[in-house]
Formats: sequence, C-alpha cells, structure tokens
Amino acid sequence: MKTFKIFILFSGNGSNLENLYTTLEGKEVVGKSGESARIEFVGAICNNPEAYGITRCHDLGLPVITIPHTDYPNREEYDMALLKALFLYEPDLIALCGFMRILTPKFVNAYPCVNIHPSFLPSHKGANAIKESFEDEKAHFGGVSVHYVSEELDGGEIILQEKLSKAPFRDLEAFEKAIHQLEYKLYPQALLEVIKERI
Ligand code: GRF
Repeated sequence: MKTFKIFILFSGNGSNLENLYTTLEGKEVVGKSGESARIEFVGAICNNPEAYGITRCHDLGLPVITIPHTDYPNREEYDMALLKALFLYEPDLIALCGFMRILTPKFVNAYPCVNIHPSFLPSHKGANAIKESFEDEKAHFGGVSVHYVSEELDGGEIILQEKLSKAPFRDLEAFEKAIHQLEYKLYPQALLEVIKERI
C-alpha cells in the first residue's frame, strides 16, 4: 500500500505533535480518488534546542532534527536549510505544530503546508491569540482554526475551524486548557480531510 508521508515542524511543547502522532500514525485512509494509503510520520524539525517537544519525539520514536534559526543570517537561508533537510524525506505534507517562524514563499511553495492556530481566524492572528481572544471584550468566543500556510501570517485558506464560547470560563487558564482540548480534536480531523483530498 502507498504511504502518505507527513513531516512536522515545531518550536516548543509539542503537545499537538504528540497528539497527531498517536492519533494518526499507521492509520489507513481511503482517499476521494478511491485509492488507499497508510499515514506515516517520517520526521520532525525543531528550531529551538531547548524545546520539550524534542523529548516527546524521542519517546515516540519519531526522528527529530534540531536546526536552530540563530545559526542562519536571515529567513531565506534558514528556509533553504529546512528544504535541504526535508529533501531526503520526500514528504507529502508538512504539518506545523507550534512552529514560531514565518516561512518564506520559497518554502511555502515547495510543499503543501498546514498550520493550527488557537483562534477563530481571521480574528486574533499572531503569537498571543488565546490571551487576546479571551481579553477581547467585543468577542464572545475564541476558537481553533486549521489552515493552509500561505505567505501571509495565519492567513491561508481555512480547512476546518470551530468556535469556543468564552461564557463558561472564569479565567484565562481554564479557557486555554479548553482551547488545547479543541485543538487535539480538530487537528487530526483536518489532516484526515487534507489527506483524503491528496491520496
Ligand atoms: C498551539 O496552541 C497551536 O495552536 C499554536 O501553538 C501552540 C503549540 O502548542 N500554533 P504545542 O507545542 O503543540 O503544545
């Protein structure tokens, strides 16, 4: 059977990485074309040598490479290093799991690339989306969005998104926890949709 190869980029905790791996690794999927494929996570790259996600990769048995962005003078050269490292793996899809770097057009155009963002896009783009959506008095809900990665930050086509009402949550911590639970449900679902389209 054909394999559908996924490669992960991450920067930190890696809980979405672990959730994707444990939910989808080895799963057989029938695509819209009628062909079947087995999902295989082929590796991960982390730009932050201190990231806890690296330990998760070791525990899962997922090959991980650390490529610190601080070793490169600019985004273009860093992304070239990523592309060089990825070349051997021949991934069908790149899944960003908390990868805190803006990717250059060269990278984004080389592979289909998806990302998870903890807000109901297009509201609350950027790195502090959970806090900003919780504190935004005009918004009654936050949410989670899975989208294709484009050259615009948190701006590519939406694959799947869901709102989360703020009403039941008294503090940011509880809201944040619920957002992460929603991520763990939505990201595998969205990836399955993408994979079915691409087999
Ligand atoms: C998640 O909230 C994700 O939506 C955002 O970065 C966070 C990563 O968390 N892009 P983790 O590293 O997967 O635990």
